[in-house]
Amino acid sequence: MAHTVESRPTPSATVNRAPIRILPSLLSCDFARMADELSGIEAAGADWHHVDVMDGHFVPNLTIGPPVVASIKACTTIPLDVHLMIEDPDAFAEPFARAGAHVLTFHAEVRLTAEVQRATIRAFRDAGVPQVGIAVNPDTPIEAVADVLDEVDLVLVMSVFPGFGGQSFMPEVLPKVEWLRARGYAGMIEMDGGLNLETTPRCAAAGADTLVAGSAVYGAPDRRARIAELRAGALAARTE
Ligand code: DX5
Ligand code: ZN
Repeated sequence: MAHTVESRPTPSATVNRAPIRILPSLLSCDFARMADELSGIEAAGADWHHVDVMDGHFVPNLTIGPPVVASIKACTTIPLDVHLMIEDPDAFAEPFARAGAHVLTFHAEVRLTAEVQRATIRAFRDAGVPQVGIAVNPDTPIEAVADVLDEVDLVLVMSVFPGFGGQSFMPEVLPKVEWLRARGYAGMIEMDGGLNLETTPRCAAAGADTLVAGSAVYGAPDRRARIAELRAGALAARTE
């Protein structure tokens, strides 16, 4: 019997056609050789650099600020995805915009209501940041960002408690990604923390497309091969 159009699977209904992006987190690079590390990772096929900014208050660790991000920008050609793990993101909107952030992401835990989230989003856009993201920690319900989904370019679903690289992936956050897609959120969904060859396909299958990997990429013996494997695993998972 000939297949009717109706009886065939419709790939366009099941396949997410947004690009998969692999973002090595520079937290796992050799900071004394940062320029070489960054250009090497670009040549190895990274889509964007993920830049972790920590203030020692929101998270129990310190990393880098706007001057270092500006130096990174000067020696890279791919976009910088700047993840602000800081208590006062509004105060740093302009410095990070000037430093060259392409995506600037703040945490919902420091901006609890839609009203203040909106003010921060506006501050970022007014500062000239091309794209704005909002992040949720593993113990923050995804509903915390529900009212601003139309106003952000990216939602970052943390799959570890932020502060350090090399932690284990928390699969219990995956339903947040599914919730966002089920609700029709069509922007970028980023996952960050514990992504590796085993966990990245699970992120993509749930609907994430912007995949941060620190130790899994920088710690790999062949970084080019690792980025390619992560990408292939993600692409295969979301078309299964
Ligand atoms: C954690 C950071 C992550 C971290 C990821 O606070 O936000 O970006 O570098 O590192 P891995 O991939 O090693 O878990
Ligand atoms: Zn991060």
